[in-house]
Amino acid sequence: MRELRINLKEKTYLLYIERGLLDRIGKKIKSIYTDNGIKDVSANKKVIIVTDKNVDKFYGNKVKESLEESGFMFFKVVIEPGEKSKSMEELIKLYNELLDIGVTRGDLIIALGGGVVGDLTGFAASTFLRGIPYIQIPTSLLAQIDSSIGGKVAVDLPRGKNLVGSFYHPEAVFIDPNVLDTLDKRFLYDGMGEVIKYGCIKDKELFYNLIQYDDKELLSNMENIIYTCCSIKKKVVEKDEKDTGDRMLLNFGHTIGHAIEKYYNFEKYTHGEAVALGMYIITKKSEEMKLTKEGTAALIAKVLNRHNLEHEINLEDKDSILSAISLDKKNKGEFINIVLLRDIGDSFIHEIKRVEMIDFI
Ligand SMILES: NC(=O)c1ccc[n+]([C@@H]2O[C@H](COP(=O)([O-])OP(=O)(O)OC[C@H]3O[C@@H](n4cnc5c(N)ncnc54)[C@H](O)[C@@H]3O)[C@@H](O)[C@H]2O)c1
Repeated sequence: MRELRINLKEKTYLLYIERGLLDRIGKKIKSIYTDNGIKDVSANKKVIIVTDKNVDKFYGNKVKESLEESGFMFFKVVIEPGEKSKSMEELIKLYNELLDIGVTRGDLIIALGGGVVGDLTGFAASTFLRGIPYIQIPTSLLAQIDSSIGGKVAVDLPRGKNLVGSFYHPEAVFIDPNVLDTLDKRFLYDGMGEVIKYGCIKDKELFYNLIQYDDKELLSNMENIIYTCCSIKKKVVEKDEKDTGDRMLLNFGHTIGHAIEKYYNFEKYTHGEAVALGMYIITKKSEEMKLTKEGTAALIAKVLNRHNLEHEINLEDKDSILSAISLDKKNKGEFINIVLLRDIGDSFIHEIKRVEMIDFI
């Protein structure tokens, strides 16, 4: 079992990583529940699992049995899979389910799923009755290394992603790398986009390991990879919890990546695929401008291709991509911050005039 303690100003909590953790989840949660003094579990306290249909099919029963064995009163809310469920409508449906169950502030909500379930459930937990304790059990690679850590929770509005949200940290995060065995390959590669990003911005060793791993080695080293990525995110988040400075480094590849996703109406590229393109495009340009060590973009292309991610796209319509960048809520004003690499593992924030962004695409 690997553990990481996330230390924030107003809260500290543990993240556990272990293969097979899901089999013992009831016992583990019971210890968190009593240790944190949320409530004593002897009187059959309510635990409400929020999950999606895909995850429920594989893990719903296992989690139910384990929680019931540990004396919890088990309830389950199952949503449709996919980004469409991160909506106001789904949020209100979830509030209504919680009301029907009779949830109180002494009960516990558990997000069992990918980033969609995590973000929606976390936001519901942060707002329902002004805040209910919750636990994250992330099941996609992206959720295990990124969205379950850092406290950002949100839902989308028809006019854009993550427009309504808050910072709300869980009581604990439980990561079982074994659940990745049932994840669709495209979502595995999607998560690899973010894994590679961590190597690019902060960890040369991770990056060079990723260049070498074949698919089998990748999976057998997954527990270490997840631990490394979570350690990087932990350090960045502890330094800049509310995302006003260093946390921006986590956005490497995202300025152009988001614009590509948006330009193709979120249909052609997954988030990780778009970030992969964004990392390569910006590094190729920054290398030409002598801001980045020669050969870095080629290394990024190599590691991306190694993990089934493309690095090149024909950006003929640069103006549309540029206007998609300008529409992004993070890019208001005359100046914008972009994240560049000096070298693999060494990233920095670079302020440019918004009009200069065209030079980077
Ligand atoms: N809060 C944050 O800091 C943060 C950071 C990055 C991304 N996000 C958000 O995360 C979301 C994307 O997350 P995602 O990529 O996990 O998407 P997702 O939650 O839609 O999961 C991807 C797919 O995999 C399925 N799935 C998940 N785990 C599975 C498993 N173990 N076995 C079989 N199928 C499984 C899901 O049902 C879904 O179909 C976006 O909404 C994004 O905005 C949030």
